[in-house]
Amino acid sequence: MRIVLNGLEKSFLDPSGNRRRVISAISADIAPGALVAVTGPSGAGKTTFFNLVSGLFLPDSGTITADKTELTALSERERDRWRAKEVGYIFQTFNLLSDLSIIDNVVLPHILIGNGAKGDLEKRAEESLTALGIGDHLRKYPHQLSVGQRQRVAVARALLVSPRIIIADEPTANLDDASARIVADAILTLRGRSTVFLASHDGRFNAVKPDHTIALGGEVSPCVR
Ligand SMILES: Nc1ncnc2c1ncn2[C@@H]1O[C@H](COP(=O)(O)OP(=O)(O)OP(=O)(O)O)[C@@H](O)[C@H]1O
Ligand SMILES: [Mg+2]
Repeated sequence: MRIVLNGLEKSFLDPSGNRRRVISAISADIAPGALVAVTGPSGAGKTTFFNLVSGLFLPDSGTITADKTELTALSERERDRWRAKEVGYIFQTFNLLSDLSIIDNVVLPHILIGNGAKGDLEKRAEESLTALGIGDHLRKYPHQLSVGQRQRVAVARALLVSPRIIIADEPTANLDDASARIVADAILTLRGRSTVFLASHDGRFNAVKPDHTIALGGEVSPCVR
């Protein structure tokens, strides 16, 4: 999917009531299937940027257009629906639903949005969770898994139906070497078919040359509005 970012700005109020600009003047024209590296130190705004591109937040100003859809012109409900259809988001904090089993965490969001038949999605989820080394935990709940195991559930959920946009926010941060390699390969294989946004400090991705780099600053700048 082609993604056009035009003059994105986003600021937040800090605890002392000052407005701090986290995302400043970001513009890019990203071709379908491109790999976009999003870089910057902790607090630079990488997750904030992903929340804009996925339509979770609206920017203060600027536009985001994905193919023919102007995301920033949609209602919250329309953006939610768009995200469920088009975006596989591997959240840095996983965002698993604690009352759902592992297999349901992976499959149910896709069933709800009509991304496939239940039996077929469950079969694919089992295969994917098994490939990720957690096939023995399908009926467990998130709190019964280690942090690294939960991260792999989040990966399986995001990649289940080959979304046209993939957002991978530190997708291997909690994984051992073997699991990290599997997850990195699974994400990189989708480049070309999906537009992939990646933030990672994992050296495994160093050998890969991104099509675009969005470099976010370390110090958020105070701004007056
Ligand atoms: N909802 C929010 N309300 C207020 N401030 C926020 C909010 N979300 C993020 N921030 C602030 O914006 C800045 C950027 O946060 P963000 O999570 O995007 O950084 P990051 O680059 O993803 O960092 P990390 O590498 O640690 O994950 C931080 O100063 C953070 O405190
Ligand atoms: Mg982050």
